Amino acid sequence: MTYLTHIAISDYEQWSYTGKLMRNTLKQVNRNTTSALFNDDFNTLGAEFSLYYPGKLPESEIFAAVPDVTFVRAGSGGSKHKNGTGWKNLVIKGDNLSALKALLKQKEIQSRIDLIYTDPPFSTNLTFRKGKLRSSTISSSQIDEVAYEDTLNGPGYVEFIRQRLILLKQLLSTQGSIYLHIDYKIGHYVKIVMDEIFGKKHFINDITRIKCNPKNFQRKGYGNVKDLILFYSKTNRPIWHGAAESFSEDDIKRLFPKIDKAGRRYTTTPLHAPGETQNGQTGRKWKNLLPPKGRHWRYPPDELTRLDEQGLIEWSSTGNPRKIIYADEKVTHGKKKQDIWEYKDPPNPAYPTEKNLEMIRSIIRASSNPDSCVLDCFAGSGATAIAAEREGRRWILIDSSEAAIRTIKERLSAMNGTPAPYAILETQ
Ligand SMILES: C[S@@+](CC[C@H](N)C(=O)[O-])C[C@H]1O[C@@H](n2cnc3c(N)ncnc32)[C@H](O)[C@@H]1O
Repeated sequence: MTYLTHIAISDYEQWSYTGKLMRNTLKQVNRNTTSALFNDDFNTLGAEFSLYYPGKLPESEIFAAVPDVTFVRAGSGGSKHKNGTGWKNLVIKGDNLSALKALLKQKEIQSRIDLIYTDPPFSTNLTFRKGKLRSSTISSSQIDEVAYEDTLNGPGYVEFIRQRLILLKQLLSTQGSIYLHIDYKIGHYVKIVMDEIFGKKHFINDITRIKCNPKNFQRKGYGNVKDLILFYSKTNRPIWHGAAESFSEDDIKRLFPKIDKAGRRYTTTPLHAPGETQNGQTGRKWKNLLPPKGRHWRYPPDELTRLDEQGLIEWSSTGNPRKIIYADEKVTHGKKKQDIWEYKDPPNPAYPTEKNLEMIRSIIRASSNPDSCVLDCFAGSGATAIAAEREGRRWILIDSSEAAIRTIKERLSAMNGTPAPYAILETQ
């Protein structure tokens, strides 16, 4: 018990952080920890976890601490014919923290964003470049243009993400949600920060995204083929249209292993379920058979007879009836999408770390409405805008990189079917 308290104190000393706030916070944590341990009552620690690190600004001070900027018009694009509502999509060039603050001051945007998909740098300590000659590949050549630097790490990185998340939450509508793309090295720290900001009860999924083919490198450890997407809602009533995916050929063969005389694939399921019916019909004899002990028929005897007459019951050689389920009737609705996704990133990206378009489209379909606005404040190549255009949604992109803004403009201009009108703004 004393040991745990000691760890907390010595961690604090190692940080050699002199801020009054952290010192007091840690003293408080230690007091709580000690009293909780001595009282054997861990509940006094509180229901939620918090991440403590040097330089963590109180939430109430963040908005005021962010430098104010204004937006200056730097261009426009898209088709005027598509503008029925007067709304213009936005490409904003500048630091996203100040840009988010400026957006928050606009009434038509504040608390109106239904969906955020965003993919920040992952604290990789790398410089990402975009090649001039090989513009479609990630370049490691020193003469190629720097797209962006990813050099923040530790508490500095976590605080960078946290401050943006706090403003992002304020931009979300009451039916809004956020998907934050992150990697396995830093993602678990960010998860705790997101729990703090959005509340653990609004955490929906930690999606494993398979990003590439298996690698065979020399490292002592397992290959890494995944990153993660942390999915939170702002309230308990986010937009949700469900997410289904089609059955693969392998799924169909595995789930429907039998083939009938007409060549239709099918499987069978038991006609009874756990629990005995005391007085009702589903506990009665059907065709001289009682349901097995401790179970009841899934259907009343009349319905069982109807199913049998329609040829939807298969009888085993020992006289056991099972319900027939045909593959062609079941697979049309697809299967519920689970939390492991395989969406590999483009092999020839227009921008380094460009994400899979179909993945973002599926997120937009599941978590936004046709009149929703989707925001991405680490926009990179603009994949989120392209995906939003394809799904007929409004969008706002922010990125500080010259190369990113150029790539976004190129991608929007190259779209099949002109995009809806958009304005290009710069922060000043
Ligand atoms: C991982 S990339 C995003 C890639 C994007 N999802 C795509 O599919 O192309 C991260 C982006 O965040 C941008 N970025 C990093 N820090 C930023 C900041 N403070 N403000 C605005 N953009 C920033 C970088 O310029 C980079 O384009």
